[in-house]
Amino acid sequence: MLDYLVLYNSQSGNTKGVAAAIFSALPEGSRDLVDINGGNPIPKAATYFIGFCVHRGSCCIEVSDFISSLEGCSIALFGTCGMGSSPEYYKLIEKNVSAWINSSCRYLGCCLCQGKMPMQVRQKYENMRTAENTAQVDGFIRNFDHAMTHPDREDLKRAQEFALSCVSRAREQV
Ligand SMILES: Cc1cc2nc3c(=O)[nH]c(=O)nc-3n(C[C@H](O)[C@H](O)[C@H](O)COP(=O)(O)O)c2cc1C
Repeated sequence: MLDYLVLYNSQSGNTKGVAAAIFSALPEGSRDLVDINGGNPIPKAATYFIGFCVHRGSCCIEVSDFISSLEGCSIALFGTCGMGSSPEYYKLIEKNVSAWINSSCRYLGCCLCQGKMPMQVRQKYENMRTAENTAQVDGFIRNFDHAMTHPDREDLKRAQEFALSCVSRAREQV
């Protein structure tokens, strides 16, 4: 059994980048980095770092099924989403995804950051524009443009610090 497994789901690469940063920050040796949709067997581990891209306010079913299959281990969550600067929204995502964790597992917390979105999303916002919703659409577009540079170096550093704090807590609990 591994000490640490970083497992992730990423459709356009944002969460994959965060997963790689977390993996590189973990103590060398007993660790692995696996794409949940890569078709490879998923090794067992004492501590899992589970990453997801946010679709419709939660993770995909492959990730939720995997989380709910785990028992008696430590679990840290991480993810990327289009929405930035909204602690309330990040709390809601954390609540939606951590709800799948079995009570026999130790939950170590969740680290979310913003991730760039496909250009079609910006076009969709532009197409929604009417005389009545200009301010709201402008807000969506500002958020979209802000997301374009994320995850950035600061996001990756924060994810690595989060991972190291999880490692310390997982060790305390052994
Ligand atoms: C189909 C779809 C649904 C999405 N739903 C949400 C959402 O509910 N909330 C959000 O903040 N971002 C949403 N996003 C934006 C993604 O979460 C964001 O771009 C994320 O960084 C993608 O991660 P990935 O590159 O690892 O796939 C959605 C993107 C797509 C393509």
